[in-house]
Amino acid sequence: MTPDRLLARDDPAWWRHAVIYQIYPRSFADGDGDGIGDLAGITSRLPSISELGVDALWLSPFFTSPQNDGGYDVADYVGVDPLFGSIEDFDALLDRAHELGMRVIIDIVPNHSSDQHAWFQAALAAAPGSPERDRYLFREGRGENGELAPNNWTSTFGGPAWSRLPDGQWYLHIFDSTQPDLNWRNERVRSDFHDILRFWLDRGVDGFRVDVAHGMIKAEGLPDYHPHEFADRIGVDPSVALTKEGPNPPYMLQRELHEIWREWRTVVEEYGPDRVLCAEAWVEPLTRLADWVRPDEMHQAFNFSYLEAPWDARALRATIDSSIAAFGSVGAPSTWVLSNHDVVRHATRFGITSAVAPGEGIGPRNADSVDAALGLARARAATLVMLSLPGSSYLYQGEELGLPEAIDLPDDARRDPSWFRTGGERYGRDGCRVPLPWEAADPALGFSPTGAAWLPQPEDWRALARDLQSVDELSTLSLYRSALSARRSRELGAGSLEWLDGYPATALAFRNSGLTVIANLGRDPLELPEGTRLVSSNPFAGTALPPDHCVWILED
Ligand code: GLC
Repeated sequence: MTPDRLLARDDPAWWRHAVIYQIYPRSFADGDGDGIGDLAGITSRLPSISELGVDALWLSPFFTSPQNDGGYDVADYVGVDPLFGSIEDFDALLDRAHELGMRVIIDIVPNHSSDQHAWFQAALAAAPGSPERDRYLFREGRGENGELAPNNWTSTFGGPAWSRLPDGQWYLHIFDSTQPDLNWRNERVRSDFHDILRFWLDRGVDGFRVDVAHGMIKAEGLPDYHPHEFADRIGVDPSVALTKEGPNPPYMLQRELHEIWREWRTVVEEYGPDRVLCAEAWVEPLTRLADWVRPDEMHQAFNFSYLEAPWDARALRATIDSSIAAFGSVGAPSTWVLSNHDVVRHATRFGITSAVAPGEGIGPRNADSVDAALGLARARAATLVMLSLPGSSYLYQGEELGLPEAIDLPDDARRDPSWFRTGGERYGRDGCRVPLPWEAADPALGFSPTGAAWLPQPEDWRALARDLQSVDELSTLSLYRSALSARRSRELGAGSLEWLDGYPATALAFRNSGLTVIANLGRDPLELPEGTRLVSSNPFAGTALPPDHCVWILED
């Protein structure tokens, strides 16, 4: 174990400046050869991730689940799905990660359970109005015979947010119909989740990423959502209703959430000051998001405004400034993220040359809008910008290999519920979830000993396999390693940002901890200051920084 790793493990405020690597277990490494990644596979590959130089891991769900939404449909919150292994496999993973100096946070999915959860099964078997049904959001329908859904909400994955039972009642599901929303006004739901948190904290996890944290409580009465009328009813100027400053939809950001998160904070603090809660909350603007990251609530929230910012210097600078200001106003560091298991990988996103609607995904119909080389150049530069910012950064498995979105997946391989619920109109998220390439010469590119892979790996990923990139000093993997090592030794995560004058508006130029960072988002080469070039997103000769490049310079 290296001394700087010991520091990361021993620092109770580690999360304020950590680099956290997201593992999507289905697609990371398959130990038993069934084509689906598992916990033993992850454990066997942990040295590669530790070598990369990250401080912590975030594991997407590995709990018992029918896997209708890649495990975000949990049927037992304290059980490991046999697909991924056993609780002993989890303990072994946790021990190994800790031994290697990495913290581990796990995903908790409190907004909804799977319809296969014993709570929902009991609710189905019980009568309308029963305590069992009160754990979820069951309602009578509207219309003469209750044949219309209780309100007009739609599912995030497409289609209505309500499904009807044979006995006539409807239940709410903001996501798939197999993901019924829990009723967070119910005391038993709240106390059961405290027990679930304690179960995992007792096993030694370092914290939780809280799925759909902003959606857990719905407005009393479950009113229809017409943004303009809603604004009017709650006394907000309708002209702001559809702006980022507009009112929250009735299924998001209700004030009562503060109470729930304060209770959760108390639970995690029983285990020490170093256990953390990170909210997955698609909330804008950042000032509103920061409201939920206070000293007695969440420690962190994902900064999706940063993820959604285009490759444009003005927009990025504004987002960076407002992130630092918003989170700073509540005493929290900002987080940064460019990719995860829900969005088009940033190596592809930054190379999209015509509009692709959010959530549409990339597939054969709109593949011609992608310039892969441009996307990768920008992605490498964008990663260097992100890793030089103070605060904590999240990486998504495979981005260190520069993986693009998989565009040509056969229709019958797709698994994302939004693909099914929109009748194929949206490609959904399978393209960012394809199993990782480890060894170029091995079956399934080293993902699985048998060559099985639950989604087909594109043939051109062979050249991107980790073993080849490991020995290529110009590879994306080598870039991530050098950047992470320099970030750690210069303590950039704990530093502060100072913008530099004298650069065009198409550049990002700032200083952090004695390092000058310059990114050229314009079309002309940019003259650079003197100094030693510590890391650059792509090699370049001469004194000028080419477009779509970023460099870290150490003043001589
Ligand atoms: C979150 C997860 C996403 C999942 C959804 C429903 O947004 O990141 O993958 O589909 O919640 O649980």
